[in-house]
Amino acid sequence: MDSIAALMKRRVSCRKFSDQTPTRETIDTLIQTAVWAPSGSNNQPWRFVVITDREKLKSISDAAKRSWLESLDTAPFIRQYEKWMNDPAYNIFYNAPALIIIYGDSAAHWQVYDCSMVAQNINLLAEEGGLGCCWIGFAHNVLNEAGVKLELGVPEQYELVAPLIIGYPAVIKERTENPIKRKPFEITYR
Ligand SMILES: Cc1cc2nc3c(=O)[nH]c(=O)nc-3n(C[C@H](O)[C@H](O)[C@H](O)COP(=O)(O)O)c2cc1C
Repeated sequence: MDSIAALMKRRVSCRKFSDQTPTRETIDTLIQTAVWAPSGSNNQPWRFVVITDREKLKSISDAAKRSWLESLDTAPFIRQYEKWMNDPAYNIFYNAPALIIIYGDSAAHWQVYDCSMVAQNINLLAEEGGLGCCWIGFAHNVLNEAGVKLELGVPEQYELVAPLIIGYPAVIKERTENPIKRKPFEITYR
């Protein structure tokens, strides 16, 4: 698939997965390929944690929901999702079989951009491998906590950039069916 087709045909963010867990080899290949992204000063400031334990993911989801509800005053954008955060049946990871977490070294000046480029590569490569993917911003609070990073073996100076759920889609939604269209935006030429 050429890169324009890959971009335009990227299926919608995947939130419904089959029971099949991607193998470690599949995830390794995805990550090893995705890191061929550009990075500021060629710092390559990323490291990865992969969680495939669904119980662990469920407990992170519960902690994240609790934490968002406790911080509605400081994170008012969550108010629109308050119902979801209060819903015991809502799992922020949609019961996905795997979560790839990208952390960036805060010592590298552009680590957020660098790691986001890798995240988008993972999105596109997942598509090609028949996998589905979705960035889970709702996990940002918990996965960046010092205690959680310690437990995951992530050095303190690394900061969370991208939590990506990944798995085989239960339902394949093609881009053409995607009700979410791109909004009009400005391009200014001078
Ligand atoms: C930074 C970021 C955070 C996101 N966080 C979430 C999230 O927490 N939960 C979720 O279901 N989708 C999340 N998404 C997915 C977006 O909702 C999705 O990309 C957007 O609605 C456009 O749809 P599409 O990816 O299918 O084109 C996030 C995407 C990005 C880039």
